[in-house]
Amino acid sequence: MIEDLRRLEEDALAAILAAVDADELEQIRVRYLGRREGLVSGLLRRLGSLAPSDRPAAGAEANRVKKAVAAALEGRLEQVSATEVHGGGDPDLTLPPRRKWRGTIHPVSRVIDDIWAIFRSLGFTRARGPEVDSEWYNFVALNTPLDHPAADEQDTLYLGRGLLLRSHTSPVQIRTMELYPPPIRIIAPGMVYRRDTYDATHTPAFAQIEGLVVDEGVTFVDFKATLAEFARRFWGPGTRVRFRPSFFPFTEPSAEVDVKRVIVREDGTEEETDWIEIMGAGMVDPAVLENVGYDSERYTGWAFGMGPARVALLRHGVRDLRLFYENDMRFLAQFA
Ligand code: PHE
Repeated sequence: MIEDLRRLEEDALAAILAAVDADELEQIRVRYLGRREGLVSGLLRRLGSLAPSDRPAAGAEANRVKKAVAAALEGRLEQVSATEVHGGGDPDLTLPPRRKWRGTIHPVSRVIDDIWAIFRSLGFTRARGPEVDSEWYNFVALNTPLDHPAADEQDTLYLGRGLLLRSHTSPVQIRTMELYPPPIRIIAPGMVYRRDTYDATHTPAFAQIEGLVVDEGVTFVDFKATLAEFARRFWGPGTRVRFRPSFFPFTEPSAEVDVKRVIVREDGTEEETDWIEIMGAGMVDPAVLENVGYDSERYTGWAFGMGPARVALLRHGVRDLRLFYENDMRFLAQFA
């Protein structure tokens, strides 16, 4: 009996595979699984003639065959109904085409690429460093004592044994200067991590771009002029740039850099935006240069750190920073 069932199953599966439309599949269903005339039911009716000890195994096998045939019918039905749409008669040319998913560059990556392209044309090269770094690179070498508030466990994600998730890209300054003698002109984009609350303007993981210049005779004028030139190339020639005094342990003097952009309205008239902070920056503190063995009497430099997601926010008029890091396709597909 079990052998008969298996033969039935084989026949049914072959017929299902060969069927080309729903009608044919329905006929097969009735032929094999129909309650009265169905071949499987017919076999089951003979269950009573088996020795009692053979019945459970035969019954179980019959159920398995029923399920397998039903599943195959369903699967094939799906296939044939998908092709039937196009099968009957001429195709309907008025139907909208199916949209194909295409990969695109993430809006934050695009900002990084654009910023990088400008600095590359100004003679910068690209540098990188690890996301897991030590207290030395993230703080101490950057003239930031470990009892500084930035080094507090409230703000920094520690991994133990002096290791942490870097809280800014500035450790790449140290790693680069340790490896290479001046002159240095680098751009270092990468992810950084902070114990921030997750809200519209803060995410615990976010991208940063570090810039560093060190050479003989580098002055505050180079610093201001280069960053102003960058801002005008990035946001347009009408962009105004403002340097506000600030503090960072690794730069002296330090500044926060704001830009005021010119926006062209739809009717062609122009409008100035508010001042918007785009980066922290400053002249490299001589103590930092000494920490990497540079002669701070001979060399000077400047550095900046900026958040490309904030820039993407401005660029696209997005109000919530989290959208850039949540990978929701409904949001990202708009930048295709
Ligand atoms: N590392 C600073 C921050 O994350 C930014 C910065 C970089 C400031 C370089 C000055 C120079 O806030």
